[in-house]
Amino acid sequence: MNGRVCVWRGVVVAAVLCGAVACGAQTAASGRPQLRKQGSATQLVVDGKPFLALAGELGNNSATSMENMEPVWPKLAAGNLNSALIGISWAQFEPQEGKYNYSLVDALIAKAREQNLHIVFIWFASWKNGTSSFAPYWVKKDYQRFPRIQIGEGSTVSISGPVEILSTLGAATRDADAAAFGALMRHIGEVDGTRHTVIMIQVENEMGVLRDTRDRSPAANQAFAGPVPAELMQYMVAHKESLIPEFREVWAANGYKTSGTWEEVFGPGKPASEEIPIQTTTPPMSALEHENSWKQLHWASDEIFMAWNYARYTEKVVSEGKAGYNIPMFVNGWLQQPNHAWPGTYPSGGPMPQVHDVWRAGAPDVDILAPDLYLPYFDQICARFTRNGNPLFIPETNTNATNLVMAVGKYNSIGFSPFGIDGNRPIPQELSDAYRTLGQMWPVIAAHQGTDSLTAERLSEGEAPQKVSLGNYTLTLTYTGRTLRLAPQNKGGIVASPPPPGSTVSAEPPEDAAAILVNTAPDEFYFTDVGGAARVDFTANTPGPGNVGLGDVEEGRFVDGKWQVIRQIAGDDTAQGEILMLRPNVILRVTVYRFP
Ligand code: DGJ
Repeated sequence: MNGRVCVWRGVVVAAVLCGAVACGAQTAASGRPQLRKQGSATQLVVDGKPFLALAGELGNNSATSMENMEPVWPKLAAGNLNSALIGISWAQFEPQEGKYNYSLVDALIAKAREQNLHIVFIWFASWKNGTSSFAPYWVKKDYQRFPRIQIGEGSTVSISGPVEILSTLGAATRDADAAAFGALMRHIGEVDGTRHTVIMIQVENEMGVLRDTRDRSPAANQAFAGPVPAELMQYMVAHKESLIPEFREVWAANGYKTSGTWEEVFGPGKPASEEIPIQTTTPPMSALEHENSWKQLHWASDEIFMAWNYARYTEKVVSEGKAGYNIPMFVNGWLQQPNHAWPGTYPSGGPMPQVHDVWRAGAPDVDILAPDLYLPYFDQICARFTRNGNPLFIPETNTNATNLVMAVGKYNSIGFSPFGIDGNRPIPQELSDAYRTLGQMWPVIAAHQGTDSLTAERLSEGEAPQKVSLGNYTLTLTYTGRTLRLAPQNKGGIVASPPPPGSTVSAEPPEDAAAILVNTAPDEFYFTDVGGAARVDFTANTPGPGNVGLGDVEEGRFVDGKWQVIRQIAGDDTAQGEILMLRPNVILRVTVYRFP
């Protein structure tokens, strides 16, 4: 199968692969986890091969002891996960300043290996959901050395109680965090540098100022009154034509100044005394404003100022970590959203799409700016997070398997990770089935990511069929519900055959479907689907005979990347060769032919 892929897509796929191999040859040889471009995609490469993290994130404190982890490991295996996102608390790692405790990290890595799992560690350090609850006690106690942000008229802040937020402007805090993270990464490099159980690191968690648009401590006010740093200005000038549009707009609106204070360059921030509207309907907004307000900058200079300061602090932490052991590192964002469109109602300064340029300029060692994606606008947010080549990884989300398919098939995500996967409820069958299916199909998907021979489509009940152009064909995809509804085609009054008994019965409620579509040779496709069932009709989109017939239709599986046929399908199961149906978690290989 792989042979066929290479022969046909020799020009596109082999070219991008060969180019990638040549560029990354030195590090690929070591097998160390790294990111590698393939066409328009960025893939995570582990041990020299593209790796798809079919993951889940554990509860924040699940991995604080091996005893507590005992029931978790079998659950992850049963859910077909190949990776887990596991938190490491700074407080637990460095209970006394300069004294690092590696025993838990070692035990987690050893146990993950036994379970055939990879780990993405989360460095819960200076910030977690905006606040600083994972900072060590010796940091929390020392107000002078480790300053807090201030909001409004000078109070400290929390989202629910006396938990404070460490200031990005505390150099001692930054250096202490970076030193601890550097030690952690050096150790991981020593114990895992040849095994590669640990594949990526999330640095901090959902950074940003809450309950105000920016830090208003005296140090922050002084910095805010000063000039926009030259490094940021230079980045903006150099990338002027490709800046994220909503960021560029605020710069344009203030005259594309190339120097000045934050407010001179980006416009006014929020006056300290002004309240932040929590709901976008207060004051009342038009439907259009409501629809757009969560994709724009508000009090732009405040959010940009905070993004710069979080990025600079994080850059120091990440660069210390990478000096210890250089594997991909990302930060995650609590998202701006309808009804929480103003900075401060979501953490101001986190890696939101509208400030991606600021993060890129301030933290060039951060590889991925990732969304914690619980919102219903899943595809739209994936699109916003992949602008300007930002690779997609979804460290937190829900268990919706259609989202997994869209993320991987359409937005080239390098992984998908529902949050709280070890919680009380079982991992949904739909997700573990989808993990098994995508895990099998991964070599084919990986070979085609970043090219126009792979896509995914989401289908919903009641929506018009979707048309997808793939190679020499246009595919029309129609959502058909949970079961095979082989409604016979009526061609010139002649119906090929009635549907097989039982095939139209659907007792269960309909739901969405999402299909992955790969064009592996001029007349060959691999398909799979999750959620409900879907029908595929082909039309030719290149000159030649106009009719398209189904050739071989095979249901099968991939074993170590090799295709194995389980069932050859024709007759009743294709309505006598006239209808191709995709059913959840069934992988099909389909050839087509053309006739006049
Ligand atoms: C987002 C955070 O990043 C997670 O650590 C966790 O607190 C979840 N929210 C809880 O829903």
